[in-house]
Amino acid sequence: MSALSFAASDSMSQETLRGRRALVTGAGTGIGRAIALALARHGAQVCVTDLDAGRAKTAADAIGAAALPLALDVTSADATAEAFAAAHARLGGLDLVCANAGVSTMRRVIDLTEADWDTNMDVNAKGVFLTDREAVRSFLRDGVKGTIVNTASLAGKVGAPLLAHYSASKFAVVGFTQALAREVAAAGIRVNAVCPGFVRTGMQEREVVWEAELRAISPEQVVREYVQQTPLGRLEEPEDVADVVVFLSSDAARFMTGQAVNVTGGVYMT
Ligand SMILES: NC(=O)c1ccc[n+]([C@@H]2O[C@H](COP(=O)([O-])OP(=O)(O)OC[C@H]3O[C@@H](n4cnc5c(N)ncnc54)[C@H](O)[C@@H]3O)[C@@H](O)[C@H]2O)c1
Repeated sequence: MSALSFAASDSMSQETLRGRRALVTGAGTGIGRAIALALARHGAQVCVTDLDAGRAKTAADAIGAAALPLALDVTSADATAEAFAAAHARLGGLDLVCANAGVSTMRRVIDLTEADWDTNMDVNAKGVFLTDREAVRSFLRDGVKGTIVNTASLAGKVGAPLLAHYSASKFAVVGFTQALAREVAAAGIRVNAVCPGFVRTGMQEREVVWEAELRAISPEQVVREYVQQTPLGRLEEPEDVADVVVFLSSDAARFMTGQAVNVTGGVYMT
């Protein structure tokens, strides 16, 4: 974690989310793991879910005994309902949910397969729908004025070449976030999204290799171009995203809903 992100974390107190019960998807590694750790650091009890049960456990272990690791494939409605039921049983309810799980593949549209399209749509778009549906059901059942933060992307604001299918799935997340926010606002439930830029995770490592191959340039050149496009002049860290998720989940963001907040170091500004 960078010194910058530590400073940002410290600006919110450990009491920010004290007593809140959280569930994060795709939290075994990368941005989701950073979100789970940041929520816990700010006082929340966290259910750490991931497709990969081992990763979920390792991330939960990094938080401590209060964290609950669960295997969850967000493309399955039944599995999502079961995970929410297990989290509810253990934590006594939920106050905040982060639908973060996502995947990517990279190809020119002329070479794009139905499998590319379906996988990206299933995890990134349908996964957010199924997670948010369970979150809202839980909040309404318990009379909780909960919060949801979905992980969209810079590619959900502006079309990303070689990632058309991924872009489509992330534009879907932004649209869904806005529609759901309007639908549940009267119940006091807030729904927002974060749009990260070029974040140093396993997903980025894979994309750098694919992009270098597709554009016939070196992986180092791909990374250089990411940084050149970023006014703040460095690659993004998972913690840069996690701190904004903490804010959006907190009372400090009490009058924000339906927003897709860019967390990109200035790559995209509208
Ligand atoms: N890394 C970036 O540059 C970047 C930029 C913008 C948005 N995002 C988004 O941020 C989110 C996290 O990305 P990351 O970079 O940390 O990726 P990552 O690949 O490093 O981690 C993703 C995690 O999601 C899990 N996952 C995959 N499929 C799943 C499924 N069906 N159900 C549940 N969990 C599943 C994986 O096991 C993994 O632990 C994604 O939604 C991604 O689209 C990433």
